[in-house]
Amino acid sequence: MSTDRPFFVTTPIYYVNDTPHLGHAYPTVAADVLARFMRLDGRRVKFLTGNDEHGQKVERSAQALGLTPLQFADRVSAAFREMDRLLDISYDDYIRTTEERHIRGVQALWQELERRGEIYLGRFAGWYCVRDEAFYDEAELIDGKAPTGAEVEWLEEENYFFRLSAWQERLLAFYEAHPDAIAPRSRRNEVISFIRAGLKDLSISRTSFSWGIPVPENPNHVIYVWLDALTNYITALGYPSTQNPEFSTFWPTALHIVGKDIVRFHAVYWPAFLMAAGLEPPCRIFAHGWWTVEGEKMSKSLGNGIPPDVLVERYGADPARYFLLRELPFGNDGDFSHRAVVGRLNGDLANDFGNLAQRVLVMINRDCGAQVPEPAAFSTADEALRNAAHGLLETVRQHVCEQAFHLALEAIWRVVADANRYVDEQAPWVLRRADETRMRTVLYTLAEVIRYLGILTQPFIPGAACKLLNQLAIPDAARRFVALDAIPLVPGTPLPKPEGIFPRFVEAKAG
Ligand code: MSP
Repeated sequence: MSTDRPFFVTTPIYYVNDTPHLGHAYPTVAADVLARFMRLDGRRVKFLTGNDEHGQKVERSAQALGLTPLQFADRVSAAFREMDRLLDISYDDYIRTTEERHIRGVQALWQELERRGEIYLGRFAGWYCVRDEAFYDEAELIDGKAPTGAEVEWLEEENYFFRLSAWQERLLAFYEAHPDAIAPRSRRNEVISFIRAGLKDLSISRTSFSWGIPVPENPNHVIYVWLDALTNYITALGYPSTQNPEFSTFWPTALHIVGKDIVRFHAVYWPAFLMAAGLEPPCRIFAHGWWTVEGEKMSKSLGNGIPPDVLVERYGADPARYFLLRELPFGNDGDFSHRAVVGRLNGDLANDFGNLAQRVLVMINRDCGAQVPEPAAFSTADEALRNAAHGLLETVRQHVCEQAFHLALEAIWRVVADANRYVDEQAPWVLRRADETRMRTVLYTLAEVIRYLGILTQPFIPGAACKLLNQLAIPDAARRFVALDAIPLVPGTPLPKPEGIFPRFVEAKAG
């Protein structure tokens, strides 16, 4: 059932101290698929992404290049927007934490927390990790380093604290009442155990550097970069105004897509900040896994991060998007290898889907006067294939709503396989001489199924799907999901000349 319920999807906002790579492309592509899917399904969508530009790490990286932090942030932020362009990302809003609208909102949230007695001034003494921008307990350190392997430094400062400890029971009650608020299940269990183990008050300001949002009324302090960054999800909706149409439409419908490394910030600190300020926690947080590249951990020193331009130049935006979401379940870790991408590109895309479309469109062009053919009575085999296509939306929607992208694609490709089997069994090239009426019915059935496949693959491979739908002369208004059953192909519609949608990847010969 289609619905116009609002849908707010976010990516993490990316630190500007690193240039974009595969690990950033991943959550962004996933969020884009969700946004496109929901729009096509008739829902009101807001898709937010952006950059996290404050903090000691950014300050240090800028210094190393002899730039001001803002000059540095401008440069890297532009590279992230270029990633979005290359990968066909359809965000509705791009937020940078250095923007005035954000700074105003963060300071307002701070004041609200202060007004409600959730913040107090104290003294912090403990371990801080600049790379993770996180505080660690002595007991959490492994061989004197953060659990992530990054260096820690001892910090003693006057800090403001947030009364996180007071929110322990209310967080547990919230997650008890909302079993789907954190996914996958393993992450939910991890968060719940962390909360049950006891929450300590959280230091939320720093005095030893200045690249951040000043604490209102005490500008010697800057606001902790995670309190600053997390708030982007509501400053982009116009917070502190909570009455404006954006905020009242989209909060708290949020689905935050995050990596497994930043679940604690999103599933513990963020809902606690919100509840403490009298706001509702986000609807859902989905934590995806991490990619290695050719079996190696991605790292700056190995330089194996695969920048988006390389990814897109080598494989194309659609194949890259398809691979990222098809290869593994969204919550799992996996390996990105050239061999695996080429396997999917040449197998699933070029051979299975591309060839199916090409074979059918070429025959229609040549043997049906380049027009949608007129079908006669449908056989049981025709009906079976059409029914498989008709049932797809429900299945795909269910998987997409659970962020099980690989299952959604698997379901679509099962129909691709059914259609390929059907072409071979029906052999329209034989019917061309034996029974033209039957040939037209078979080709119409196939064109209809290809229409379904083209419409349903739009969120995943928007460029190729659009090319395919153009070849079936489907107007924009008939590309939404409501049109699947409502607006079938009209016999007699002239069709343009067919073109392949997925070229095979051919390895360049050495020498
Ligand atoms: N700025 C914070 C997020 C603040 S959100 C309010 C941050 N930024 S980040 O740029 O370091 O990381 C952004 C995301 O990239 C994280 O969710 C992280 O999981 C993801 N990835 C970075 N490397 C990755 C892989 N190798 N594989 C998959 N995702 C990875 O954290």
